[in-house]
Amino acid sequence: MTPAERIDELRRLIRHHEERYYVLNQPEIADAEFDALMRELERLEAEHPDLVTDDSPTRRVGGRVAGGFATVDHAGPMLSLDNAYSEEELRAFDDRVRRGLGLEPDAPGVGYVAELKIDGVSVALRYADGRLVRGATRGDGVRGEDVTPNIRTIRAIPLRLREPVPAGQVEIRGEIYLPRRAFERINREREETGEPLFANPRNAAAGTLRNLEPALVARRGLSACLYQLAGAPEGAPLRETAVEAHLQVRLSTHGDTLDLLRRWGLPVELHWRRCAGVGELLAFCQEWAERRRTIEFETDGVVIKVDRLSDRRALGATSKCPRWAVAFKFPAEQKTTLLKKIEVNVGRTGAVTPFAVLEPVTIAGSTVSMATLHNADDIARKNIREGDWVVVEKAGDVIPRVVAPVLSRRPAGAEPWQMPDVCPRCGAALHREEGEAVWRCENTSCPARLQRGLEHFASRSAMNIEGLGDSLIAQLIAQKLVTDSADLYALSADALAGLTSTSTRGDGRLIERRFGEKNAVKVVAEIERSRSNELWRLMYGLGIRHIGEHSAQVLAQAFPSVDALRDASVEQLQDTQEVGPVLAASVRSWFDEPRNLTLVERLRRAGVRMERSAEEQTALRSGGPLQGRTYVLTGTLASMSRDDATAAIERLGGKVAGSVSRKTAGVVVGAEAGSKADKARELGVPLLDEAAFRALIAELDRA
Ligand code: IVH
Repeated sequence: MTPAERIDELRRLIRHHEERYYVLNQPEIADAEFDALMRELERLEAEHPDLVTDDSPTRRVGGRVAGGFATVDHAGPMLSLDNAYSEEELRAFDDRVRRGLGLEPDAPGVGYVAELKIDGVSVALRYADGRLVRGATRGDGVRGEDVTPNIRTIRAIPLRLREPVPAGQVEIRGEIYLPRRAFERINREREETGEPLFANPRNAAAGTLRNLEPALVARRGLSACLYQLAGAPEGAPLRETAVEAHLQVRLSTHGDTLDLLRRWGLPVELHWRRCAGVGELLAFCQEWAERRRTIEFETDGVVIKVDRLSDRRALGATSKCPRWAVAFKFPAEQKTTLLKKIEVNVGRTGAVTPFAVLEPVTIAGSTVSMATLHNADDIARKNIREGDWVVVEKAGDVIPRVVAPVLSRRPAGAEPWQMPDVCPRCGAALHREEGEAVWRCENTSCPARLQRGLEHFASRSAMNIEGLGDSLIAQLIAQKLVTDSADLYALSADALAGLTSTSTRGDGRLIERRFGEKNAVKVVAEIERSRSNELWRLMYGLGIRHIGEHSAQVLAQAFPSVDALRDASVEQLQDTQEVGPVLAASVRSWFDEPRNLTLVERLRRAGVRMERSAEEQTALRSGGPLQGRTYVLTGTLASMSRDDATAAIERLGGKVAGSVSRKTAGVVVGAEAGSKADKARELGVPLLDEAAFRALIAELDRA
């Protein structure tokens, strides 16, 4: 056997055993034997450097990731899932599916696949001619971060697919997770070195995947489950159909897709089961609600998917979720613990909300030491008192909440709780409006309100000032370096360097950190950059009540500057599409407040852009993002008429034509599509199925 042949054989053997161990949990050889194979391969590659290839199992760990991760486009939007919390909601989903497929009431049960829902981080992997070329996080669903060097370290994920490999590129999606045991090991190690503990395996997986040191990522022991064949990047969402053409296999069900992924050597969730109708689905959900703790990953529910791919295409998707799937969530976990104290928190708008300080307790895999209590009325209604034993519940990533007190254990002398009369931070009297449940601190310079306001201003979806986090903001306020958002723009790196921040470890101990010079320079550069943000970011960042991210974008399209918004009457505001009376009144009253006008002037003087950016302006003037692009519609769309689809394309500046040519930007393919789809394939024109088309429209409408 030549060295080249032996190298080839070793790579195949190593991949086989990696798969037995990391994917199937059924090792066939001892660790020492596996290590021997790896060492032999390393030795041969060292002797024959010309035979080293990038997909060799010895090459999982590359160097450092320099300068952060690049942003990359997904082959099509990464959607989310609707949830069902009860048998009723699951039946309602099944009814919707049956109606959507036009089934008679007495037709037999729809064929579904039930899979465990992995509580991890979603990723999109790309294989080109069978080689792993890219791994990206979900990001905002349209663009994610390129974390390839970290993905390569995950031993469950093959660097090369097993035959028959698909020609060209395919995108395969799934979930990266940290096995329970790895999570416990990492937290033990962090405990020993005094580092902050991860709250749960999902946070640990998310943090790890974005770590800049692949060697560290490799040691953490991430794993993966894949469940979707999403497409190819070159414009066309290459779905199952195109893979079929490449491989000459017939994929008619989701089960076939999972089998194919498995055949390629990819990790899939191994407990999936075909279920005919709701009865079998419920049995699966019931079984796993009980067994969920016995497997190596955290699962928070069951994902139920229509099995037949043609049915899926017919059902399509909304802008957020496919109509052919639903996530059945396991019931929230409950524990009883001591409610030590009820404290209140002051929000950005001055809303004062009570929360429970609890004796720490582990629920659903994370330590809970606080829980929301909504408002004073709710506390009175539930009859919750300080010193009570209380039932606390937590469902997945939802904030824990106090369900009820255990009255039989109530200590003698426990008194009903009273909302304080004054703000706990600034001492101003609290008010509540007629008919409202919420008490408010109306002192606009209350430090707690300032803190929340600045957190909002700097947040990712507002001015997006990276590095300006909660504890730094608290320091800036405490040191009187800022009294409003305009003050941020006068900060120097010198002023920031040397500030200390404290954070709480998992065990409740405080750790103090100094804010280093390098970080200070970075944050100041970020603040500087935010001066020229898009107008909508500023409109959102100002923190006007009822202006959300979307309404800020709507307002920035209708009003070219902050001044124009300031000068608009309630009527003019209400004449704007999508702006209702509540939002209009809220904007008006915000600008009627002299101190808000002062803030706007101070931001202007600080050099913050108050008009649309050049890009925003061009996008508006050019008549829409699809300008110059022509689409062809073919087949029947389940969720919209042909006229609606045409109107949507035209509204975004595009055109609709009757025949496909090389210049066609895309062909929207509905059910029973005919020769136009074939022509498009022939010419290499991108095909969009209904879900992809709706997602494209929704995405451009948002942009
Ligand atoms: S299918 C179009 N299957 O749950 C989206 N998702 O809450 C299709 N998830 O964004 C998703 N396990 O990241 C699917 N077996 C599974 C899953 C799963 C976990 C995640 C996924 C999704 C999120 C929605």
